[in-house]
Amino acid sequence: MKIGVIMGGISSEREVSLASGREIVSNLQQGAHEVVPIVLDTKQDIFEKVRGIDFALLALHGKYGEDGTVQSILDSLNIPYSGCGMLSSAICMNKDLTKGIMKSKNLRTARWLVVSDVADLSEEAVAKLGYPVVVKPNSGGSSVATFICRDMAEVVAGVREGLLVDKEVMVEEFIAGDEITVPILDGKIFPTLIIKPQKGGFFDYASKYDEGGATEEIIEFPAALQAEINTLALETYNALKCEVYARVDLIVCQGVPYLLEVNTLPGMTKTSLFPKSAQGIGMSYRQLLEEIIRVSLR
Ligand code: DAL
Ligand code: MG
Repeated sequence: MKIGVIMGGISSEREVSLASGREIVSNLQQGAHEVVPIVLDTKQDIFEKVRGIDFALLALHGKYGEDGTVQSILDSLNIPYSGCGMLSSAICMNKDLTKGIMKSKNLRTARWLVVSDVADLSEEAVAKLGYPVVVKPNSGGSSVATFICRDMAEVVAGVREGLLVDKEVMVEEFIAGDEITVPILDGKIFPTLIIKPQKGGFFDYASKYDEGGATEEIIEFPAALQAEINTLALETYNALKCEVYARVDLIVCQGVPYLLEVNTLPGMTKTSLFPKSAQGIGMSYRQLLEEIIRVSLR
C-alpha cells in the first residue's frame, strides 16, 4: 500500500505538523508500506501531490488540515485517510460549536462568549464570566494567541491579537486546575495524562514545544473521578461524531472535570501526548500508527 504522509500546510501549527509528519514517516518506513512524504505549502497543492497514493495519513494540524477541508477533498478524490471525517473535523476545530454541543448534552464545559469584533465586547458580559478569563482564537490550536486576562483592558488587547489569526475570538471563564488529556482510539480510552508546565502558568505554545517546557505523566485519579473523566471524554467524542481517534483535553478543578476541546488530529511528534499515553499500555509509536491505519481503513 502506498501511504502518503501529509504534513505542513498553512496553519499556525505548520512547524508542529512538520515534526509530526517526519516522525510518522521515519516510523512507517520501518514497516512494509511504501511511504511518500507529502509537504503541503499552498491550498492547491493537495490536488497535485496526493495523486497515486492509496491512503493519506494526515499529520496536519489546525486550519486547512484539521478542520475538514483536506478531508472533504480526499473524500471527493476517493482517497481513504486517517482519523475523523469532514463533519467532526470541522465542528471540533470550532471551539464555540464544540462547546455548544457539549452544553446541549449537559457535558460540563466552562462558560464562554465569542466575538468577531472588539466593538462587540460587552464589559458586563465579560465580567459575568468572572476574572480572570481566557482569551483565544475560536479556531486555533497549540495555544497560539491565547492569553489569561485579568481586566477589560487585557481582554481587549487579547481579542485584538486573536483577531489577527482568526475571524472570531473566544472569551472563556478561567478554570484553575490541572490540565489533562484523554486519548481515544476506536472508542477505547487510553491512559489519562496530566500536563505540568515547568514555569508555572498554563500549557502555552512554549511549554508545549520547548524542550523541558512541560512534563506530562500518566495519572490515575481516584476511581470515581477517573470514571467521570473517562465518561465525559467518551461522551464528548461520540457527541461530536469523532471517528478512529482523537484527543480530548480537559481541566480538573477541585475534583470536577471540565471539557476544554477536542483535537481530531492530535500532535504526533516524538514527545506528543497521544504516543506517550499509548506507551503506557505497552503500545509503541509504530503500533499506534498501524492501529490508526487499520481502523481508518475498516
Ligand atoms: N494541536 C496540537 C498539535 C495537539 O493538539 O497536539
Ligand atoms: Mg488543540
